Amino acid sequence: MKTYQVSKPGGFENLKIVEQATPSPAAGEVLVRWRATSLNFHDFMVGVGGISVEESRVPMSDGAGEVVAVGDGVSQWKEGDKVLSLFFPEWLDGKPTGENTQAMSGDTVDGFATEFSSVDANSLTRMPSNYTFEEAATLPCAALTAWRALVVEGNLQAGQSILVQGTGGMSLFALKIAKALGAYVYATSSSEEKMARLKDLGADEVFNYRTDKEWGKTIAERSGGVDHVLDMGAGTTLKQSIAATAIGGHIAIIGILDSPIAELDVISLILGHKRMSGFAVGNKEMQEDMIALLEAKDVHPVIDRSFAFDELGKAFEHQASGSHFGKITVTYED
Ligand SMILES: NC(=O)c1ccc[n+]([C@@H]2O[C@H](COP(=O)([O-])OP(=O)(O)OC[C@H]3O[C@@H](n4cnc5c(N)ncnc54)[C@H](OP(=O)(O)O)[C@@H]3O)[C@@H](O)[C@H]2O)c1
Repeated sequence: MKTYQVSKPGGFENLKIVEQATPSPAAGEVLVRWRATSLNFHDFMVGVGGISVEESRVPMSDGAGEVVAVGDGVSQWKEGDKVLSLFFPEWLDGKPTGENTQAMSGDTVDGFATEFSSVDANSLTRMPSNYTFEEAATLPCAALTAWRALVVEGNLQAGQSILVQGTGGMSLFALKIAKALGAYVYATSSSEEKMARLKDLGADEVFNYRTDKEWGKTIAERSGGVDHVLDMGAGTTLKQSIAATAIGGHIAIIGILDSPIAELDVISLILGHKRMSGFAVGNKEMQEDMIALLEAKDVHPVIDRSFAFDELGKAFEHQASGSHFGKITVTYED
């Protein structure tokens, strides 16, 4: 079987494919034939060496595939079941702890840029039944983070408003989930062309964060304050996010697209009764809840472009170009 491995120093040119024997599932494990993965900023950082991982680590936190063999003692899966990986394979439910979030797919433990792997039978969920492998591979990191921001941390209610920033995979999931739940969506982008596409996807109002540096204030004036803001950039965006948030609103601290260091207007938070929460992805139970909603409302990801298994480096270069709109995927050969 073919497997990617990260080698040092990082860099897409050092992402190499090696041939290995296909493993057999131990007791409590299933052998999965992975069929697709999708790119996240975290995978990008592992790929370029910005996040240092063990030599030979298999990259990519997202995987969708099918069970091809079942180890002793496994009752929840059978051959042919379509399954999805977990970003935190040991965080199944309840609160995050140092222990249950230590294992991170494609980082501290092997990920899914591989044709086969044997995984703990508990570290999987089912795929949405109305999804292709490619679509399903966009869910475990980006979609689950958007879900957690809006539904788990934010308790989003129909009729409330949200603000998403940029047109990356996660923001577009947040837009689609919010629309499915009856919310009003404000969105930003750096390009007029992408702003038009945001409108086509159902965004109610769109703003250009490149031409309007005070976009937070502009959105607050338009909206009277947004109930749920997903901050994607930290750096210069957090100040704008706080400005855009309604009194009593929620700001999900999600990304560092601008910079991980940001100034904080504490007075605006205090007097505005604004709540900020920082978090990473989510647990298995949240993933199962999200899958049920996506299935019931027939919500599907926006896929920008797909690459073949041996084109992972090219896929990262496409991500680095910033021209994408939605998720970039890699599908494996039949
Ligand atoms: N906390 C978590 O658990 C978690 C999980 C997944 C991802 N993340 C983080 O969330 C962020 C977005 O992830 P993603 O996978 O959606 O990324 P992505 O697909 O690469 O999307 C990036 C998009 O964001 C916009 N953007 C870029 N720089 C920006 C800036 N300085 N200010 C505002 N917008 C900017 C651009 O959209 P336009 O071209 O439309 O301007 C760009 O296409 C990343 O920082 C990632 O690390 C966090």
